[in-house]
Amino acid sequence: MPSRARGVVARAPGDAVAVHDIVVPEPGPGEVVVAVQACGVCHTDLHYREGNIGRDFPYLLGHEAAGVVDAVGPDVTSVVVGDFVVLNWRAVCGACRACRRGRPWYCFATHNAHQAMTLDDGTPLAPALGIGAFADRTLVAAGQARPEAAGLLGCGVMAGFGAAANTGAVQRDDTVAVFGCGGVGDSAIAAARLVGARTIVGVDLDERKLAWAREFGATHTVNGATEDPVARIQALTDGHGADVCIEAVGHPDVLRQAFYARDLAGTVVQVGVPSPDMALPDIPMIDFFGRGGALKPSWYGDCLPTRDFPLLIDLYLQGRFDLDRFVSETIELDDVEAAFHRMERNEVLRSVVTL
Ligand SMILES: NC(=O)c1ccc[n+]([C@@H]2O[C@H](COP(=O)([O-])OP(=O)(O)OC[C@H]3O[C@@H](n4cnc5c(N)ncnc54)[C@H](O)[C@@H]3O)[C@@H](O)[C@H]2O)c1
Ligand SMILES: [Zn+2]
Ligand SMILES: [Zn+2]
Repeated sequence: MPSRARGVVARAPGDAVAVHDIVVPEPGPGEVVVAVQACGVCHTDLHYREGNIGRDFPYLLGHEAAGVVDAVGPDVTSVVVGDFVVLNWRAVCGACRACRRGRPWYCFATHNAHQAMTLDDGTPLAPALGIGAFADRTLVAAGQARPEAAGLLGCGVMAGFGAAANTGAVQRDDTVAVFGCGGVGDSAIAAARLVGARTIVGVDLDERKLAWAREFGATHTVNGATEDPVARIQALTDGHGADVCIEAVGHPDVLRQAFYARDLAGTVVQVGVPSPDMALPDIPMIDFFGRGGALKPSWYGDCLPTRDFPLLIDLYLQGRFDLDRFVSETIELDDVEAAFHRMERNEVLRSVVTL
């Protein structure tokens, strides 16, 4: 039997989101229904509302979630009803050319549930990142439900942590600069501290964000509204620039700063999501060649949930990775639109919907 739930829906680009009644199909083969317990408000949800990710409105938002398995499809063996799960928006296929070469974190054929959740009138909903978890219940692919307990690992924390630890391969003694100290950037900072980076510079335009970045492990912070981040990062790294620069904003001007704040042969990681109208900054090709190193986009922190979720959970349980510090407030489903405004005003690191 299909079940009913309440979910936060974006109906048109830029319009305020609202809570609607939705219909959740009974899980078919390879699908599970999860009773959502908590779901973080990620900047990517705001990108969806703005129409920056796609035009498949209406969207059912929310994708950074944990909950309890409520029902499983006929052939599902990876989880059972009652399991606590973190929802993972890149369920790997195991069969594409990336998976077959032993690089499943790049999987080119990640999958979602086959059936669509709908509005009351039957209009299909496009779930954000194939998850749609600002809702009491959501239908996902079995591979998207990882049977490990915990909260915010489902998107921003994993993406930021992985941007530093996986994509940027930050190591002990490295110098690191993180541009944008939101949930994603601060996770990158925490990861850089864990692996033993020597200097960790957080860059933001907001003093509150910079204060939080220091709590997560930034050894220095730079306010890009009042100082030139490139010059300051060079000054903090003996005039050279940082080994790894992580762009966690999603803006060409910031990517340019990250590019020039980097030491020779260093790495730029792009984890911030740009909107479709943005182009790469106009950089002389001789600078690209002459500086060497690598420019690397980071999908979900190049994470492998089967490997990286349990690691982060152990680090959290051991007190070495402070997940709780990301939670600025807990809110209800009806408060997501207001939480977007608080995110835009930089008043929160993460608002978390609890259900
Ligand atoms: N690649 C992925 O898999 C992935 C996953 C999750 C989120 N994201 C993206 O990462 C980005 C950050 O997400 P978030 O949830 O941390 O957002 P957030 O809104 O919490 O944080 C963004 C931060 O960037 C700062 N900022 C804005 N302009 C700046 C500038 N010019 N210089 C320095 N700092 C600036 C803001 O003050 C804010 O603190 C978003 O674009 C989001 O869509 C990507
Ligand atoms: Zn694959
Ligand atoms: Zn996200």
